[in-house]
Amino acid sequence: MREMEQRASRAYTKKFGAEPEVVASAPGRVNLIGEHTDYNGGFVLPCAIDRRIAVAVGTGEGGLYSTDFDETRQVGEKDSSWADYPRGVAWAMDEAGYGVGAFRAAFAGDVPPGSGLSSSAAIEAATALALDALSGLGTSRKNLAVLCQRAENEYVGVGSGIMDQYASLLCEAGAALLVDCRSLEAQSVPLDLEDAGLALVVCDTRVERGLADTGYNDRRAACERAARELGVKELRDATEESLGLLSGEELKRARHVVSENARVLEAVEALEDSKFDEFGRLMYASHASLRDDYEVSTRELDAFVEISEEHGARGARLTGAGFGGCAIALVAEGKTAALAKACAEVFAGRGFEEPVFYEFVPSAGAEVAL
Ligand code: GLA
Repeated sequence: MREMEQRASRAYTKKFGAEPEVVASAPGRVNLIGEHTDYNGGFVLPCAIDRRIAVAVGTGEGGLYSTDFDETRQVGEKDSSWADYPRGVAWAMDEAGYGVGAFRAAFAGDVPPGSGLSSSAAIEAATALALDALSGLGTSRKNLAVLCQRAENEYVGVGSGIMDQYASLLCEAGAALLVDCRSLEAQSVPLDLEDAGLALVVCDTRVERGLADTGYNDRRAACERAARELGVKELRDATEESLGLLSGEELKRARHVVSENARVLEAVEALEDSKFDEFGRLMYASHASLRDDYEVSTRELDAFVEISEEHGARGARLTGAGFGGCAIALVAEGKTAALAKACAEVFAGRGFEEPVFYEFVPSAGAEVAL
């Protein structure tokens, strides 16, 4: 068992006085490219990170215990806390007729919350996989991801797409995951950064946000309006030529989505040919589009991308929903510390929060450990 899985397991035993029946864990993710495309039926290219949330579960009463917050919450009532994610998953599984009985659970994790690394998808995916194993259901990963998304959309109340749950449940170590968010087909794309002498640096700007409090749902609504105006089912179906029919906010949002979908497919080709310069160029273009057309960047995210470019990063961009959270850069191995130092100095000079840096390796998706 991984350390995090052992922590969850020990916490379960301490809290409930019995051994857990199942232990599972699921990772957070960074998205390499393909932002705000998932809920438009488009393409995304995330990879799982080596930060996970583990859950130990068993049948019976006792509630949901978090080692990180050191608190117990009841399975039943929605209360706008972390516990809404596991509750929502149990709810979605019940709604789908999977008949999850009474359960109790202990959680432990190291995915930084509120920073855009999908701690919410990690806790959902870990819970779904654990409850599935507890009841011996054998549900496919894809179906579990859809149930987790339903939990987030209908129980928690965020209109998020399928990307994060797919990444957490389906990614493989050493690879990114290309997802067609309409057909829900997914395919691993090799991402051997070490071989290419590159590192994936993540800058957490420490501007925290929960999606429910941001303009996320507004962006989604604008995309739906744009699709209606264009007479297409989703912006996935819009073409560059048709964008001339739009104006104002709808034009900008749609222009991002159409160009971003094209960039994802180009990025996959670049990765398959190990053309990291091309891949990086697409990352920069994605950031510019998110900043200027989708308008979800912040001064901090823009600063990190600019400093990365000055330091010779192959590519850099905000990752996740934006409005704060994290940005990523692809840099030559051994250059992370210099970039982090330069960035911290600029942030301090501008009065921004002190950023936190991580170097992640593309890691395995959710797993049952016991
Ligand atoms: C959040 C959502 C995802 C996706 C991204 C933006 O992470 O949960 O579904 O929409 O934002 O790409």
